[in-house]
Amino acid sequence: MCGIFAYTGKKGKDAGGILLKGLLSLEYRGYDSAGIYLPESGSVKTPGAVAELRKKIPKNFKGESGIAHLRWATHGEPTEKNAHPHADCDGEIWVVHNGIIENFKELKARLVKSGHTFKSDSDTEVITHLVEDHLKKSAKGAKSFEKAALAALNEIRGTYGIALQYKNEPDKIIAARMGSPIVLGLGGDEHFIASDPSPILPHTRKVIFLEDGEVAVISPDKHRIFKLDATNVKRKATKIDWSAEDARKDGYEHFMLKEIMEGPEVIENTLRGRLIPAKGLAKLGGLESVAKQLEKIERIIIVACGSAYYAGLVGEYMLEEHAGIPVEVELGSEFRYRKPVLNERTAVLAISQSGETLDTLEAVREGKRRGALTLGIVNSVGSTIARETDAGVYNHAGPEIGVASTKAFISQLTALALLTMFLGRQRGMTAKEGKIIANELRALPAKLQKLLKQKESIDILAKKYSGSRDFLFLGRRYNLPVAFEGALKLKEISYIHAEGCGAGEMKHGPIAMIDEKFPTMAIAPKDSMYQKMISNIHEIKARKGSVIAVATDGDKEIAKLVDDVIYVPETIDMLSPILNVVPLQLFAYYFAKEKGLNVDRPRNLAKSVTVE
Ligand code: G6P
Repeated sequence: MCGIFAYTGKKGKDAGGILLKGLLSLEYRGYDSAGIYLPESGSVKTPGAVAELRKKIPKNFKGESGIAHLRWATHGEPTEKNAHPHADCDGEIWVVHNGIIENFKELKARLVKSGHTFKSDSDTEVITHLVEDHLKKSAKGAKSFEKAALAALNEIRGTYGIALQYKNEPDKIIAARMGSPIVLGLGGDEHFIASDPSPILPHTRKVIFLEDGEVAVISPDKHRIFKLDATNVKRKATKIDWSAEDARKDGYEHFMLKEIMEGPEVIENTLRGRLIPAKGLAKLGGLESVAKQLEKIERIIIVACGSAYYAGLVGEYMLEEHAGIPVEVELGSEFRYRKPVLNERTAVLAISQSGETLDTLEAVREGKRRGALTLGIVNSVGSTIARETDAGVYNHAGPEIGVASTKAFISQLTALALLTMFLGRQRGMTAKEGKIIANELRALPAKLQKLLKQKESIDILAKKYSGSRDFLFLGRRYNLPVAFEGALKLKEISYIHAEGCGAGEMKHGPIAMIDEKFPTMAIAPKDSMYQKMISNIHEIKARKGSVIAVATDGDKEIAKLVDDVIYVPETIDMLSPILNVVPLQLFAYYFAKEKGLNVDRPRNLAKSVTVE
């Protein structure tokens, strides 16, 4: 997700160099464009990498303060025009922003009506024009920039981490936080603002983390914090003793754990602005251009690899049950070499976190060649699959660093649920059914938050089973792909043999492996398959296999039958994989950690596989 870095100091004129270096340490967050503004020299922006930005910067680009940004596109394509910093009409007020301004359309319409000219498609730009508006209205005084900024902040709704600068008060920078992190760095004669401490740490270890609804003003030798209602806040500085690498991990030991813990926020980000619960509708802007064609689609072929393939399998159940469309799910690496029969009433839907997996991309190209409509569920904005598909849905899950996919998987399932509502309401899904799904989707982040509180007990469980060399994962219906994904997580990061299996299929082979040394993870929520799962668990217990059950909160019966239980909050069947997979991700994480393995970079694996 976007990264912000801002600097004001009295150490010479190298703010540009300091900001560029800081942007490099924010690169890990993932981004598609970059930009910088120094009041003394102006702005430079570019799509692409920080290295590109550096090339575009003129020799005399000097100053004592400035703001800089890495953008992960949400509103508007990743172009130079949409890159931050954004300015007001006169190029005097500049902003960098991380987050989404939800009421930007209303604000923009009002500002345009009163004569403001917008230069970008970005939601962010409303901030500078709002400040400009308030500044022009207010009597000029020492604090008028601050007052105007505060008035503007009180008008915007949504999530933000912001740094604002005014050409006429160049040594002052205003920061604000609502949902997106902001940290202040306190040096002797220099102060910083950033999205996380990593660009600040080379300069100072004294930081203050802003809280939601707080605003800060920094100048070279001081800082001040207040609330949106202008009341002062007193906050002691924290001394950071972690390394820059740790800072990027937000204090977690590994990216994988950080990313699992981000789950609730990720679901919210995938859903943001896309649900109309009162009408039971999903609004997917990225599909609007093909909405008419989608009404005529008679078949969907999902193509994907790895975890994204298992997300696709869950999507098959969702789409067939609730949208009434026949779905097939294909491995990208197989589909491209088949001779699939497709036509213009077939949609090929690629699911890919990176948007660069070659097998998935080639499957999309094959679909295109054979006349199908191509769609994507992609996390990485502007990636090849996002560009080459006819239309799609972005995940907005933020960058995923751990090689084993966790939060992207959660987000893919959430996006598939939205797609199911979208296509379902075009077909037979009633508003009532749509409302049930919408309300359950909205309830998921809080449920996942509750579930994540059990991480310590899952750690203990993983330690208990960490001597095992094999593991079976069982599930049925919506949770069969979850069993596959749970097994994949365990094998990819802890290098033990794990296999996922349909619980009903177990008796046709896998049960032969079961003995007292071969434990099973049974995903057994209280859904329509519950009784069948219980019978399958009995079959394992009869062969002396230990069983951990992932069960619905309050299911005391199952606890009598199995060795260990992980309880998960209840939801509707189609959304249960979003919750049930998380204990399996945590189990794999703690299992591998107990074995002392490199959880974030498992051997032989790559995050994005761009070869065959
Ligand atoms: C690699 C990664 C997996 C991922 C798969 C598909 O194998 O290690 O975690 O699921 O690629 O990646 P994609 O970026 O297309 O979702």
